[in-house]
Amino acid sequence: MATTQYETHEHDVIIIGAGGAGLRAAVEAAAQGVSVGLICKSLLGKAHTVMAEGGIAAAMGNVYPEDNWRVHFRDTMRGGKMLNNWRMAQIHAQESPERVLELERWGALFDRTKDGRILQRDFGGHRYARLAHVGDRTGLEMIRTLQYHAIHQTIDVYMECTITRLLKDGERVCGAFGYWRNTGKFVVFKAKAIVLATGGMGKCWKFCTNSWEGTGDGVTLALDAGAELIDMECYQFHPTGMVWPVSVRGILVTEGVRGDGGTLKNSKGERFMFKYIPEFFKAETADTEAEADRWYEDKKNNRRTPDLLPRDEVARAINSEVKAGRGSPHGGVFLDIASRRPADYIRKRLPSMCHQFKELADVDITKEPMEVGPTAHYMNGGVRVDADTAGTAVPGLFAAGEVAGGLHGANRLGGNSLSDLVVFGRRAGLYAALYVKNLGGTVTVDAGQLEACAREALAPLERPGGENPYAIQTELQETMQALVGIIRTESELREAVVRIEQYKQRLQKVGVTGGREYNPGWHTALDLYALLTVSEAVARAALDRKESRGGHTRDDHPKPDPKLGAVNVVVRRRQGEMATALEAIPAMPADLKGLFEEKK
Ligand code: FUM
Repeated sequence: MATTQYETHEHDVIIIGAGGAGLRAAVEAAAQGVSVGLICKSLLGKAHTVMAEGGIAAAMGNVYPEDNWRVHFRDTMRGGKMLNNWRMAQIHAQESPERVLELERWGALFDRTKDGRILQRDFGGHRYARLAHVGDRTGLEMIRTLQYHAIHQTIDVYMECTITRLLKDGERVCGAFGYWRNTGKFVVFKAKAIVLATGGMGKCWKFCTNSWEGTGDGVTLALDAGAELIDMECYQFHPTGMVWPVSVRGILVTEGVRGDGGTLKNSKGERFMFKYIPEFFKAETADTEAEADRWYEDKKNNRRTPDLLPRDEVARAINSEVKAGRGSPHGGVFLDIASRRPADYIRKRLPSMCHQFKELADVDITKEPMEVGPTAHYMNGGVRVDADTAGTAVPGLFAAGEVAGGLHGANRLGGNSLSDLVVFGRRAGLYAALYVKNLGGTVTVDAGQLEACAREALAPLERPGGENPYAIQTELQETMQALVGIIRTESELREAVVRIEQYKQRLQKVGVTGGREYNPGWHTALDLYALLTVSEAVARAALDRKESRGGHTRDDHPKPDPKLGAVNVVVRRRQGEMATALEAIPAMPADLKGLFEEKK
């Protein structure tokens, strides 16, 4: 038997990644009566989900009764610059309210309106205040709730386990190969279906909101197994990360600060966002400070503050102000809520921000402005999935959450990530279980594949004097920050591709000292393969999209090109090489198209 020399576990469905999407998928698959294994690279509940602080977007209509799924759908599509998979955006807008209520039934303690309903706050690009929230700790509360619910279902949890390869039986997946991070021993998971819920790839950049796990593992596993990627060029830079002290640069400053009244100012004290309102949003955005302030005080007047434009617009505006020499002392801009809201209100609504700035920067945000700037935050693109089932092009392989592309198009609206996790996590778990029930039979794992996985993983340990993995990682992050950042050009992207190719050559010679137990150098060497794969995918896709759209801005093609607005850049692995192609997005049906006409 091929797997006897490795510790082996067998499940109907394995779920790789245990943040919001993975936990929700696991709960749903278990409810279908199949056996479920949930694998976490880190500890259960330690996930990028907690970095969506300000709320979960759902058209519940608790604050604005006129809100509904159609408006949420339209906002999501417009925020995504119409590149979104419209069917995913429709399902997401329709199902989010029920997923929020379900979280509440499972114990989530949302903030309340005066009459006791779930309170909803404003966020960029959302026409109505629709983010259900728990202060500025919404992702954390969601993880706490899902985790607590999941551990009471029949789910086996495997913690501190990194998956390095998916295993195939012909065309379909049949398991995964990985190692325990503490012992370094290998482990094999046999499974009929796999749900990828591994999150994103923020660690490709020097400054990001992601924790160490965000190395693009799921995208890489899927690509190598034969799945396709879309919209990788549209990576999201959150406009507001901390910029100082340097040691904490990149840490998220929630959009909830602006949602609750905070405004952005440059070094001259100007509310510069008024200069950056794009045509697309002119009709809905206030032209003057007085008008914007009225909106904060009287939400019914229907003219929005430009501080709450979609993230791509705000991040670019901050970038321009800093480049023009109107930045803050440490290379960001100012975010001021102190002069606009009473201290008690700030402490109640934004407790984590108060704590974070006091502890990390000795700034009291109830008295002083914060210094903020863009930070790599979220992978808008990812593995291409079927909108209804979350299935990929590979039989038995499903993907949900940040690892999956399509829903957010070229730019995600804040708060749509948390609803994405529960809407599509549930669907992925459900359809993976249904796939297993239809499939029947047993799983066979090929011994040759296991040997190849083991050889590949052990190689860095056999080259103790080899290339330093940390050096390659640092150089990659610097390259991505400098050449594949918010603003891109053809020559810079070409230079990035050349450098990534060189890093890939150096990875072949990477070496680490020490053994397999508790060896972070070895883990870094293994993570590098995924970091380089996803970085290459972003740079190549960015070269192909010769226009500016959402999170992808080309200095040499500064305007959107209507023709490219109708295509995805698709990335595939062909004979070991990465290949890109432009492919038409299926046309939107007339009833959904009509929603945009209605608006006019
Ligand atoms: O700003 C935030 O709280 C982040 C939310 C999100 O990315 O959805």
